[in-house]
Amino acid sequence: MPNFVPARRLAVLVSGGGTNLAALLTATDVDPGFDAEVVVVASDRRDAGGLERARERGIPTVVCPLGDYDDRVAWEEALRRDVEAYRPDVVVLAGFMKILTARFLAAWPQRVVNTHPSLLPAFRGADAVGSALAHGVKVSGCTVHLVDEEVDHGPIVAQEAVRVLDDDTHGTLHERIKAVEHRLLPQCVAALCDDRLEVDDRHVRWRPADPEAS
Ligand code: GRF
Repeated sequence: MPNFVPARRLAVLVSGGGTNLAALLTATDVDPGFDAEVVVVASDRRDAGGLERARERGIPTVVCPLGDYDDRVAWEEALRRDVEAYRPDVVVLAGFMKILTARFLAAWPQRVVNTHPSLLPAFRGADAVGSALAHGVKVSGCTVHLVDEEVDHGPIVAQEAVRVLDDDTHGTLHERIKAVEHRLLPQCVAALCDDRLEVDDRHVRWRPADPEAS
């Protein structure tokens, strides 16, 4: 009997240009070991470039701006309900710039993953690249982690360093970090989809891929 694992359903949440979404879409297209499908792309911003990328591929989109709701609780509830309607197994925060609380996360325990452009726990928060440059660090990078109730805090799935150059601007450093995210995020999401991540409190251990599976 082949060890058949059905394709995992991914929801991807974006606030910006969506280059990480594009990397995920490419990976699901070309990597036979990444048996997943992006079933919905959601955003808190009507103008998020990631929405356009989804529409071009005929992927359903959800637009849920905070300003359309009375308060954050109502907004988060609407976002959760609209995303849940697509029955995702895994939710990927790919440049999603709003904080999600336990009310949202409870729908996908240990199945919400985020990419952050610094080596956590350094430089949590919305402008990690600017904070790293302002601090004068010589090395920064990116972190893919499971999302918990604290901002940029959950168990770390993978990290990779990126050197900071003397003449780096916010743009040049962020571009080099994003180039690494584009590789790391799909690898981590594939492993999560394939149940290859063992989570023990803060520690995530990777099990090797089953060579028979694909
Ligand atoms: C990424 O660097 C991500 O880590 C950060 O925002 C950026 C999103 O880029 N939170 P994109 O929208 O995927 O191009």
